[in-house]
Amino acid sequence: MLEHRDMRAVVRLFLVAVLALFAQFTWAQDAGSQKEQVQRQQTQPLNNAPVWRDVRGGENPYQTTQARGIETNVLVQTEGEIWRQIRNGPVTVYGGWLITIVAVLIALYYGLKGPIKLHAQPTGRVIERFTPWERIIHWATAISFVILAVSGIVILFGRYVLLPVFGYTLFSWLAVISKNLHNFVGPVFAVCTVLMFVTFVKNNIWRAHDWIWVKRLGGMFGKREHVPSGKFNAGEKMWFWFGVTLLGIIVSITGFILDFPNFAQGRVAMQQANVIHAVAAILFMAAFLGHLYMGTVGVEGAYESMRNGTVDETWAREHHEYWYKQVTGGRAQPAGATPSAAPASPMREGWKT
Ligand code: HEM
Repeated sequence: MLEHRDMRAVVRLFLVAVLALFAQFTWAQDAGSQKEQVQRQQTQPLNNAPVWRDVRGGENPYQTTQARGIETNVLVQTEGEIWRQIRNGPVTVYGGWLITIVAVLIALYYGLKGPIKLHAQPTGRVIERFTPWERIIHWATAISFVILAVSGIVILFGRYVLLPVFGYTLFSWLAVISKNLHNFVGPVFAVCTVLMFVTFVKNNIWRAHDWIWVKRLGGMFGKREHVPSGKFNAGEKMWFWFGVTLLGIIVSITGFILDFPNFAQGRVAMQQANVIHAVAAILFMAAFLGHLYMGTVGVEGAYESMRNGTVDETWAREHHEYWYKQVTGGRAQPAGATPSAAPASPMREGWKT
């Protein structure tokens, strides 16, 4: 019979044997994987795939950091590469082409058709079209938008278009300035967008007669014809709803997500925000080119309306007939025409013919 003391010795011996076996097994495994690594370095030099797989997975128990925060111990994030490929691939390539094609089409249209001019002579009497507040909000939005558009273009396309021309030193200055301008002007634009919406929404409600404008494509093609409209025509309303409002909200929200990374959003959220931001901004810039064209060289007298706040009676009648009739107390108007009447007064600056 075994004594109690002997029993304990046997159990101890057994435990030591099991541990030794386990150690031998893990050592063999480690040695195996080390051997595998050594062999890999011979057949495929510099291929550290297993190490990087560990690092990417973020499961390596030795992977740690003193920096505390969201994902700080994730050293390499796989989705980052997918984001990089989407951003530097289709977004940049198709986005660049879209903006270029829209600019070329507008230039072609201008070359073929020229600006939309007045048919009748200006009367010299003017009507107030935009109040000082409306003009301040419009120009504040326009200036901040243009700063964001130019700096955004440098950030997205500069590497391909400007770097080869400017070289690294000059381009890096330009890129840093653009990035900081973009970061600080973004929130200003977001505030302007809200004020713009509140200020202009009342005249941008869609009316039945706007469909006629759409069906006739605003009378801009074929034989140019005047399609009557309220204070703003359907084209302007589409710019307001699709551009200013929808795209304005999308770029503002995604811009805030990118501007303030201290609200617990992880890298994936920021990568998604970045792609949505870039796509919306590209569509916004393409639509803006149309607005810029119509507001400057495309329509004679349009720019003056936003600069001075007034338009000639003839301009009002030929471009926004329902609005003209309403503000001048003409015949019955379609529902929803603008009630912002202003007395006709002598022209301040004279009409350019
Ligand atoms: C620097 C470039 C710009 C120029 C030259 C310009 C020019 C003009 C002009 C001349 C008008 C008056 C059109 C009319 O009398 O019917 C106008 C209206 C308007 N603009 Fe601009 N603009 C510019 C940038 C912007 C930007 C960046 C936005 C918004 C993001 C914007 C939003 C509007 C809106 C909402 C209206 C009123 C029409 C509507 O509500 O649909 N503009 N612009």
